Order: sequence, then C-alpha cells, then structure tokens
Amino acid sequence: MSTRIGILTGGGDCPGLNGVIRAVTLHARQTFGWEVVGIRNGFEGLYEEEYVDLTASNVANLLPRGGTMLGSSNRANPFAYPVRLPDNRVEIHDVSTRCLANLAKLDLHGLIVVGGDGTMSFAQKFIGRGATRIVGVPKTIDNDLEATDYTVGFQTAVEVVTEALERLHTTAESHERIMIVEVMGRYAGWIALTSALAGAANVCLIPEIEYDIDRVIDAFHRRHGRGVSYSIVVCAEGAKAKGGGHSVVTAGDATKQEKLGGAAQRLAELITQKTEYEVRTTVLGHVQRGGAPCAFDRELATRFGVKAVELIAEGKFGHVAALENGHLVAKPIEKAVKKLKLVDPAGELVRTAKGIGIELGG
Ligand code: F6P
Repeated sequence: MSTRIGILTGGGDCPGLNGVIRAVTLHARQTFGWEVVGIRNGFEGLYEEEYVDLTASNVANLLPRGGTMLGSSNRANPFAYPVRLPDNRVEIHDVSTRCLANLAKLDLHGLIVVGGDGTMSFAQKFIGRGATRIVGVPKTIDNDLEATDYTVGFQTAVEVVTEALERLHTTAESHERIMIVEVMGRYAGWIALTSALAGAANVCLIPEIEYDIDRVIDAFHRRHGRGVSYSIVVCAEGAKAKGGGHSVVTAGDATKQEKLGGAAQRLAELITQKTEYEVRTTVLGHVQRGGAPCAFDRELATRFGVKAVELIAEGKFGHVAALENGHLVAKPIEKAVKKLKLVDPAGELVRTAKGIGIELGG
C-alpha cells in the first residue's frame, strides 16, 4: 500500500485554511508521492469516519477561497463529544478511544492537525495516548497562540476590520457620532489593537487592559475640545470595564467555550448614561472570518502547509509549523496550547498606540 497522510481542520474556520489544504496536498503528492486523506469536520470526521481523497485536481483553485473545503466544527471535542442516542437525547461521551481506533485503521504515515488552541490540545492528548505521528498548523483569526508570531487568518481579519473602520469614519464624521466597533479575538486584543492602528481609531479597548470609562469619556471630550466632534472606538469582544467581567452571550461547558458578545453595547450604555453624545455600535462578527484570505494569509498558509509535510518527512512529530521573526520554524505542540499569547500592556504595540494618542482606557 502506498504511503498516506491525513489532514483535518478543527475549531472555528478562518480565511487561509484552504491554502493549507492545497499546499499539503500538492507537496505531499508531487514531492513525496504520498496519498492525502482529508478528514471532514475536524475530529468529528475521525469519529464518524468521514473522509475525502485529496488530489491535485480537487484542490485546484482553492487558494483564494475562504472557509475550509473539509468543513470544521468547534464542538468536535473527542474527549467530551455530544452523542445522539437512539431516543434522540444527547449525552456527552468520551469518544477518543474510537477515534484512536479509526486513526489506526487509516494507517497514516502522519496526521496534520490545522487548528487553534482547542484543536491543538486535543491533538496533544491523542499524542499522549499513543497517536504520536501528529504535526500541527496554527490557525485562528485571534492570533493568540504562543508558538507563532502569526496564525493563519489573523491578517485577513485585520484587513476586514480596517476597511470597516475607514467606512465608519466618514459616516461618524457626517453625523458627529461615536461609533463603537466590536471585533472578535476572544481573550486577546490582537485584532482590536492592530486594526485600531491600521484604521486610525481614536479609542481601543482590549481584554488585556481593563478600561476606566471616565478615561474613555475624557478622550471624547478632548477631541470635542479640539473641534473634532466624532470618534471611532474599537472594542474587543473580550474588553472589560474596571471591576467588571467579560460580556458573555452563552456560557461554556465541557463541549464548547463560552461565547463572548455585547461588549460594545455595554460600553455604549455606559457612555450614554454619562454623556449627551450620540453613540452607535457595529458588531462585525463572523464577517471577520469569512471571504477570501489576504495575500499574507495565502502565503503563510502555503508556507505552513509545506512545512507540515516536511515535518512528517523528517519524522519531527509533536511539532507545529510556526513563524518566528519571519522565519519558518518547528515548535513543540505544547507551545501552541500551554498559554494564550496576549497583548503585553507594556509592549511595543501598546506604546505605539499610546504614542499617537489612541486612548486605551487604562
Ligand atoms: O476563535 C475564533 C473566534 O472567531 C473568536 O474570535 C470568537 O470569539 C469565536 O471564534 C466565535 O465562535 P463561533 O463561531 O462559535 O461563534
């Protein structure tokens, strides 16, 4: 039987996943003559045995396409998996033993797991249970993986937010309003801060710096004092007022993480309670995850995909492809899961924002 590798995409999707799938397929087939099996919907496909053969022809024209041709699921935790029983009730089961058995049946030379911290932590657990031939590719619009400078999907999300900020500038100015834009990123402020810099925001609130509402309002007053009667605020979904908690829409449980949302609305209410300013909120939501990847993400996806195949060829299992100071490197998978990479409140990005007068609220 010929040598075969597998690939799955897990967790929330992002632009660039198809670029990874394409690069893996082309490099594995053309350089090594390996077959490539795509596993559908993250670890769910491993449990359900849903596979697709990946060839040069079915990855053709894939690079500019958003989403993932393999499907993804952020509820496919094989260690706490919602199983539908014959009487239609859903119970949470540990299905990892069946996944391991299915993996053994596939007889893969290596498995490439493309994911964020959740998916990588499942991969690490499988490695701990003997499925050692796993390598990873870090992706998430949140850019919160310690292992790499950039994850696939992040730059595209920043482009989307930046364009939205530019559009909001003109309408904010016409109507003399405060425009609050809620952006994704979960507990990390990378999308918020990077796009605030790129999109010339006046205020940027990130989870890493609890905000003092009076400082934020003072920033609006200062602008008004200078004759500028509108403001653009980027508010990370994980932003918290001093002494307050995250704005949570749905609590998390064993099968899923908590869902954040409402931070912009909460901020708008605080501003409205304390001032006469007219405030509007825009929640960009999944627009940040959809559509075509930007050039940077297409390139990064391709480099990571090729690197992942090389890690398998070199037998460097238990590692993820990563970018470090512009260079492609391999980092132990633990580095992708041990702790979230957060914005340093004393770091260069924050100092840059403060340096040009962006109010960070704390
Ligand atoms: O982790 C990526 C991400 O887009 C976060 O920024 C956001 O909080 C979350 O996923 C949204 O998840 P869902 O697609 O389940 O709404």
